[in-house]
Order: sequence, then structure tokens, then C-alpha cells
Amino acid sequence: MLLIDTHVHLNFDSFSDDLDAVRDRWRRAGVDRLIHSCVEPSEFGAMQAIADRCPELFLAVGLHPLSAEQWTEAMGDEIEQLAQSDDRVVAIGETGLDFFKTEDRSRQFAAFERQLEIAHTLDKPVIIHCRAAACEMVQVLHNVRERLRGLPRCVMHCWAGTADEVKAFVELDFFVSFSGIVTFKTAEAVRESVAIVPSDRLLIETDCPFLAPVPHRGKRNEPAFVRSVAERVAEIRGLSLEELAHQTTQNALHCFKLPQSSSLPICS
Ligand code: NI
Repeated sequence: MLLIDTHVHLNFDSFSDDLDAVRDRWRRAGVDRLIHSCVEPSEFGAMQAIADRCPELFLAVGLHPLSAEQWTEAMGDEIEQLAQSDDRVVAIGETGLDFFKTEDRSRQFAAFERQLEIAHTLDKPVIIHCRAAACEMVQVLHNVRERLRGLPRCVMHCWAGTADEVKAFVELDFFVSFSGIVTFKTAEAVRESVAIVPSDRLLIETDCPFLAPVPHRGKRNEPAFVRSVAERVAEIRGLSLEELAHQTTQNALHCFKLPQSSSLPICS
């Protein structure tokens, strides 16, 4: 059984001491490919260095909405150039809108729209972060779709909104990725979303080092724990773990255009 963790941040300090042990555990858990997200382009060198050590790692490049104060037109050009500089880049992001605690919306809009354009031009998916901004996001996507006559493949990462909101994203043909939040006692609304995403649009992730699933909640999260996410999502959808793993792995291969066969040994 193989799993793909579609959203990790392994360059953060919390992994600097024991990445080899963390990697052993993800391989034993059956995780044979991972997508490394990017909060700001300055991280890209560190991400490449980790991918040099772990060939199962694929990369995204982009600017997170909560770092939007850094946004300039030149940064858009930098993201586009970095995305073309390394074959391991399979996505743009993470980008999006986060109005939970922010005053400055205009830079978030500018950065998001430009990154959607880059993803569309390069035919790569865009990894989207959306918090307290679902309405505005749907609006932006409709506008951009009209202007570009299409949208890039969109991945809603770490979905934690309502089922009604997720329906609007499913109508826009989004992939929807679920994290350890699905295992939290209070996340009934998120489990409703899990139940309604089409089978060919479902993805799983850890968003590590954040959001460790039950029974690891409160600890540092790591890619091996994506298995707990998979188990809970399988249960909600009435599938075996193997069926869910197969479905989400095929979806990730398709969405990120990952190479079909991994050179890594297959874990149990
Ligand atoms: Ni992230």
C-alpha cells in the first residue's frame, strides 16, 4: 500500500535534528512520495537540499497569503523562474487568501492572481490556502477563469471549511486535500466535506509540522502520520484503507503529474 503526503514543510526547524529518522518512519508507513510546500521563495534552496537527500520529495514554489507583505511584481517573476529551474517543481504555491487575521487584502489578491496565472502558463497545479475567505476566493477564481479562459488545476489544501463551501470548489473542479483535522473531535463539518468530494478529486496530507492527527494531537506532526488521516477518511467514505490509499495516490499522481513508478522499495 502506497500513500502520498501532498503537503509537507520539512525545512522548518522542528525537523533539523532528526530528518533521517522521520524519513525512516514515513517509508515504513508506506509514504513513497511527498509534495513539499513553500511559504516564501527564499526557502527554495533549503527545500532543494532536502530533496537532494530524499528523491521521493517533489517541490512547490510560491508565496503564502500570510506572507503577502513581501509581495512585489518582481517576486512573481522570481517564482515563475524558480518553477522552471528545477524538474522537481510540480506545483505553484502555497498561495491563496487568509482573512482570518489580516488587514491588507489587496496584496493577497495581487499575489494570488499572479500565482494562478503562473500555474496556468506553466500547466502546473496551484496549492491553495483558504481561511475565512471562501466567498472572495470563489469570486477571484471566476474572474480569473474568464480572463485566462481556464484555470490551472487547483488543490484546496488542508480543507477546514463547510460542506457548502466545498461544493463551490468542487464545481470549479478542485482537488480537495484533507489533513489531520478530520480526526479532531470537533471537526464534524470537515467530515461532512470529506463525504461529498468526488472520488477522483480527493487528496490527503499532513501539513506537517502542524496539525498532528489523533492519536498524536499536540505533538509535532510528520509525514508518517498521513496514515492516520487516510484511515479516518477511509472510514468516513466506507472504504478500506487500501482502497482509499489507491484512490488518493492515483489522484495525486494525476494532479501533480508525478512519475508513475517510484524507484523506492515498496513498504507494507
Ligand atoms: Ni502549508
